[in-house]
Amino acid sequence: MRQKIVAANWKLNKTLSEGLDLVNFLQSKVNEHDDVIKIICPTFPLLYPIKEILDSSKKFYLGAQNCSAYERGAYTGEVSASILKSVGCEYVIIGHSERRKMFGETEEVLFQKLNLALQNQLKVIYCVGEELDQRKEKLHFNVVKSQLDNLLKLSNEQLQNVIIAYEPVWAIGTGVNATPKQAQEMHAYIREIVATKDADIANAIPILYGGSCNAMNAGQLFQQKDIDGGLIGSASLKGEEFLQIIYAAS
Ligand code: PGA
Repeated sequence: MRQKIVAANWKLNKTLSEGLDLVNFLQSKVNEHDDVIKIICPTFPLLYPIKEILDSSKKFYLGAQNCSAYERGAYTGEVSASILKSVGCEYVIIGHSERRKMFGETEEVLFQKLNLALQNQLKVIYCVGEELDQRKEKLHFNVVKSQLDNLLKLSNEQLQNVIIAYEPVWAIGTGVNATPKQAQEMHAYIREIVATKDADIANAIPILYGGSCNAMNAGQLFQQKDIDGGLIGSASLKGEEFLQIIYAAS
């Protein structure tokens, strides 16, 4: 049985006080004994202050939304995987479609980031997903397959520290989620691709769904055989709603 995972991707939202309030609220409400892995991914400056208020009994983990493709040096504005690790981060999102599209992150850059994150003992939430026109042209399986190439290049040991997030770009922030059937079909396909490398890892690897996942649709999505939880954007910004999504996973 794979453990369910619910990760909050706050994107470019929440000031320090708003972020601390939200985490305090979630920690006060969430059930200590649910077996859901819960991850909060705030902006960089909020990582350490949030780490300082994390209550270990409630098991929220800290994740970053990105890391640098460089290790250290003259890279103004960058934040490395080792710095993230040093402030208490345990996860990092890599390959989010917003990074791929708006910040021009290529497969090569993503591979460098993946390696640095894993070398620094961060677990990686690796995002894949097709655009709407690619789905309309029935290219979605091919697109996702090629996005998974980077993961197939990793060692089995590295791959054991990767979580895959399937996030169809047309569903992100649009209010139009993939149907449970569409998502399950892609998740099963992703597992098949990973199985071409190693069947045991394919069976164990968590695959999250992301894209307009909310308190209303999370239950049905999370019930699908190959959906192991969610990467939640806008619905993770509201305490009550994010709690409902955690409950849906437990
Ligand atoms: P959304 O974002 O839940 O707001 O659609 C998900 C994501 O981009 O990770």
